[in-house]
Amino acid sequence: MKKIVILISGRGSNLQALLEAKLPCRIAAAISNRADAGGLKIAQAHDIPTAIIEHRNYTDRDSFDAALAGLIDTFHPDFVVLAGFMRILTAGFVARYRGRLVNIHPSLLPAYGGLHTHARALQGGVKIHGCTVHFVTPDLDHGPIIIQAAVPVLCGDTEQTLAARVLHEEHRIYPQAIRWLCAGQIELGDDGRVRLLHRRQSGFALISPGLE
Ligand code: GRF
Repeated sequence: MKKIVILISGRGSNLQALLEAKLPCRIAAAISNRADAGGLKIAQAHDIPTAIIEHRNYTDRDSFDAALAGLIDTFHPDFVVLAGFMRILTAGFVARYRGRLVNIHPSLLPAYGGLHTHARALQGGVKIHGCTVHFVTPDLDHGPIIIQAAVPVLCGDTEQTLAARVLHEEHRIYPQAIRWLCAGQIELGDDGRVRLLHRRQSGFALISPGLE
C-alpha cells in the first residue's frame, strides 16, 4: 500500500477530507510548520502521527527545507501532499520530490496564483472560479494540473461565501487526485505533462450565469 505524508500550516479542512475519504493508502504522518495549526488536532483525533517543524527556527529557506525533507523521509512516503502548507519551497526540495509532490490551490490555475484568490476573483468579475490540484514545480502555483473543479460566482457573493463554495469542491477533488496517484492512474511524464492513465472522462459545461 502506498504511503503519503501531508503537510499543513493551519485549519486542516483538506487534511480532514483526506482522512475521511478512506483512501487506499496509509497516511504516515501530518507535519506542520506551526505548532498552533488546527489540523494537528484533527490528525491526532484520527490516530495519525504528527510532527512540528517550526520554520522560524531556521535562518533561511534552504536550511528549513533540508530539515523538512529529512523529517519527511523518515516516514518513507510515496507522495507528499501539501494541504494548506503556507511555505514557498526551494527548487532543490521540489526537485527531490519530482512527480511525488502535489498541492491544492483555491483558484482555477493559471488564473490567480498566490494569495487572496477569492477576493481577486471577485474583483476581476469572473463568473466562474474554482480550485486546482497540481504537481508542484519550482514555479509557484504553476505546476502541471491534475484536476480542477469550477463553481459559479454568484451575484452578492462575498469573499466568505465564494471561499466556502470553492472549499466544498476542494474537499471532493483532493481525495480523488490522491486516489488516482496511489492507484498509479496518473503520473508526471518526463515532458512535464500529466499522464492520465484512467479513461473515464465526462464532458459538460458550467455556464454562469445560467442560460435562459
Ligand atoms: C485551502 O483553501 C487550500 O486550497 C489552500 O489553503 C487552504 C487550506 O485550508 N492551499 P485547510 O487548512 O485545508 O482548511
